[in-house]
Amino acid sequence: GKDGYRHYMEKELHEHPVVIGQTLRRFVNPVTHKIELPDMPFDMKSLKRGIITACGSAFYAGVIGRYWLEEIARLPIDLDVASEMRYRNPPFDEGGMGLLVSQSGETADTLAALRSLRNAGQNIISVLNNEHSSMARESDVVLGMDAGVEIAVASTKAFTAQLTVLACLTLVMGQERGTITSEYIDECLTALIDLPSRVAEILQMQEQIQKMAHIISQVQSVIYLGRGIMFPVAMEGALKLKEISYIHADAYAAGEMKHGPIALIDNTVPVISLLPSGPLFEKTLSNLQEAKARGGRILVFTDVKGAERVKGIAEQIVVLPTVHSFVTPPLYTVPVQMLAYEAALLKGTDVDQPRNLAKSVTVE
Ligand code: M6R
Repeated sequence: GKDGYRHYMEKELHEHPVVIGQTLRRFVNPVTHKIELPDMPFDMKSLKRGIITACGSAFYAGVIGRYWLEEIARLPIDLDVASEMRYRNPPFDEGGMGLLVSQSGETADTLAALRSLRNAGQNIISVLNNEHSSMARESDVVLGMDAGVEIAVASTKAFTAQLTVLACLTLVMGQERGTITSEYIDECLTALIDLPSRVAEILQMQEQIQKMAHIISQVQSVIYLGRGIMFPVAMEGALKLKEISYIHADAYAAGEMKHGPIALIDNTVPVISLLPSGPLFEKTLSNLQEAKARGGRILVFTDVKGAERVKGIAEQIVVLPTVHSFVTPPLYTVPVQMLAYEAALLKGTDVDQPRNLAKSVTVE
């Protein structure tokens, strides 16, 4: 049942902390505090390339995985949605890593992409919630996420569980490839272990998120902006808003604004920015100033330090906990999913069963 929540989506949003914690416990040895993964069918140190593919939200988790694996483990990654990957027929070297991400393990395009990667001689590693699925049966290694059953069509907790698995994979890869220090691994692991508590704080921020939802529930179109690893989080936010509130939303890499999308900006198209402090902060801030100068309404998710810098231009700021940069993708995902939920409530849509959508897309 819904355990007293109004919708399965609300219940599942509230399961983020537990799901992140239990997924971590699966991979972190409680005695040694080291991350342990199943044996891989390739040598991580000499691995030349990975290919990540998935659909929908699972694809956005995969995009975050690419940023992590490339930046932290220095592994070159090719990436595409599964519906393209299955027909793209790119050149492969034998023995690479095909990394698939799927909650259900039954998505038709992802399964077809898995088979084409396998036929091209790739080792198949799948990040799955359903470990008895078709994809599980056809994978060399299954990295299970412990998200539990997800009922709402809009994926929530499975997404943070996917990120938790991809984070563990990245740290082990980085360690094996010698691209990161053990101090860095410890820092990241501490941040991951601390993440459920930080996410629980965000789940208490409903009132502020409702205020933002009030603004966007009254418009026809919303732009989400993110730079670097926040770009796929922006894509996740835009997808979730479309799915359950039927408000048009698009996500852009912040730097792409002036190459076209800025033409859309006026006071009817709010801009939602995912803006943690860090090396890319000032760049994105100037994109927001440009949008503001064109009459755009600026809504921001940031941390305490970021809030100071952005308060002059933002109509509304939701101040999130300050965390290690490694865990900002799962952390910033939670409030954007909550925002979609609150907007859908205001629109009165069928949150758990949005029109035209199926939980698992098992036909092409
Ligand atoms: O079961 P999968 O993870 O393979 O599903 C992939 C997508 O169909 C899924 O994430 C979809 O985009 C969700 N409705 C997003 O909320």
